[in-house]
This record gives sequence, structure tokens and C-alpha cells, in this order.
Amino acid sequence: MEQEKLRIAIQKSGRLHDGSVNLLKECGIDVVNGVNKLKTEASNFPLEVYFFRDDDIPQYVEDAVADIGIIGENVVFESNKKISIVEALGFATCRLSIAVRKGEDYKDASFLNGKRIATSYPVILKKFLSENKVNAEIHEISGSVEIAPGIGLADAICDIVSSGSTLFMNGLQEVEKVMQSRTVLVKNNQLSEGKQKLLDKLLFRIQSVKKAKNNKYILLNAPNNKLNEIIGLLPGMKSPTVLPLAEEGWSSVHSVLNENDFWDIIEQLKAAGAQGILVVPIEKMII
Ligand code: PRP
Ligand code: ZN
Repeated sequence: MEQEKLRIAIQKSGRLHDGSVNLLKECGIDVVNGVNKLKTEASNFPLEVYFFRDDDIPQYVEDAVADIGIIGENVVFESNKKISIVEALGFATCRLSIAVRKGEDYKDASFLNGKRIATSYPVILKKFLSENKVNAEIHEISGSVEIAPGIGLADAICDIVSSGSTLFMNGLQEVEKVMQSRTVLVKNNQLSEGKQKLLDKLLFRIQSVKKAKNNKYILLNAPNNKLNEIIGLLPGMKSPTVLPLAEEGWSSVHSVLNENDFWDIIEQLKAAGAQGILVVPIEKMII
């Protein structure tokens, strides 16, 4: 019997494309990049990769055209399809915001009363407007929303903002944050047992890559009379590795540090007498 394959849908081009391909690569999965192809296959994992418009992915996953997909949470909420979020992926975080032409005298949401707002996210926008008691006209367009105010098609837009460069290039200013959105992995709700097993295998890899990104490997030299104090500052996976140095009275200490505590701990280590501190990225982390 031919082995079952997991089918993943990722964005064809745009904000999430490179990060999605990169994540697969970091999981050790070789995919031939197919910007102009609908579908490609991994050479070393039972995975087929489909390239779709991100906004179409929830429908394809619900209909089992694809088993899993990588999209923004905003697209999940907007589409309201029967699919499940499996994991937040930790790249390409963005927000859904309202923007108006630069120079407009915007004070609060009441500015939007009676205005036309172009968006690809009418469901989320409608909720925001009603929560803010604004009566505006929603003009739904499927792409290039940011050019609408410039060509007189709308007075404002509600769209994804990540770096902000799209708004800047189109002479727009961000005035309201409607929702924060993470990039997530979603799945079809009726995966076969075989596909669920493949998904678990992929998830294990994704989680190892994520953990590695949040942690750094640290090596330092410590005088033996300060060793206890220095070890006390290091969390480590179990406990730090301590090796004697060739120079009498000194040891080398190796451990793992979380990105969030990083600078605090480095300062304390230096103050405690640590020297020759090296911090290196971790590629994979399996606990
Ligand atoms: C979104 C949005 C902007 C861009 C904003 O596109 O529509 O084009 O990202 O990013 P920036 O602030 O970094 O410039 P998306 O990738 O969702 O593609 P789509 O709009 O074609 O679906
Ligand atoms: Zn999109």
C-alpha cells in the first residue's frame, strides 16, 4: 500500500510565504520552492505542499483539499470555518488595523461615521464598528486594499499591518488596532489516524524548532571559588555542565538560557565573576 501523505496548504506569495517554507526547512523537510506551481512534494517527509491564497486556505482545509495549513489567526476568525487551530508558530506576527490617508485629522473612531472602509475582513471589521458604535459603509475587496483610498474608492482601510511598509508606501497612517494576530497551524477536523500520526511527527519537529529559537546556549569561564554562585544564576535544562579548565582554579560552565531572561542573567553572571561568555544559537532542542 502506498504510504499516506499529509497535505499542507501555505500562502502562495505574500507575508507568510517565506516564513512557512522556512519553517518546513528548519524542520528538516526539503521542499522545492514553487512560487509558480500549485503543488510540490517534500523529498524526505510524506508531505505534499499546496500554494494557495491565504484567505482561501480555511475553506480548503475544511473541505479536506488540504489536511493542514499555515495562516494568520485573523483569517481563521474571518472565515468562521470548521477547522481547528493546532499550534501558534511564532513568526510573522501582525495586526489588523484601520488606516486613513496621512494628514487626516483623526481623533477617535467617530471619524469613521458615514465613511467608506475597504477591507478583505468584513466580519471582523463589522464587529469592531458595532462595538465602537460607528456607522460606516464596508466595501469588501479581495486584494490590494491599501490602494483604495488613493484612487478614491474608500476613505479608510482595514487590513493586515506587519512592518508597516505597505501603509507607508501608500501614504496611509494607522489609526486603530482592531486585532492582534499570530501565525497558526490549522487542521481539518476529521483527519485519518495515519494523517494525525504524520501531523504529530511534524508538530514534534515544529515544537523543537520553536523551543530552540527561544533559547540560547551559553558557555563561560568561572573561577572555582565563584562556581556555586554562578551556577545558581543558570537555569539549564537539568543542571549546567561544569568542566575543569587547563588553568588551575577555573572551570568552564555550559548551559541553556531563555531569550526573555537573557540580558538580566548575563549582567548578573558578569557581576559574579564570569569571563569569556559565549552565547550561541541552538538549532533544535529536544527535551
Ligand atoms: C498583507 C497586507 C499587506 C501586507 C502588510 O498581505 O494585505 O499587503 O501584508 O505587510 P507590511 O506591513 O509588512 O507591509 P497578505 O500577506 O495577507 O497578502 P494578501 O493581502 O494578498 O492576502
Ligand atoms: Zn491575505
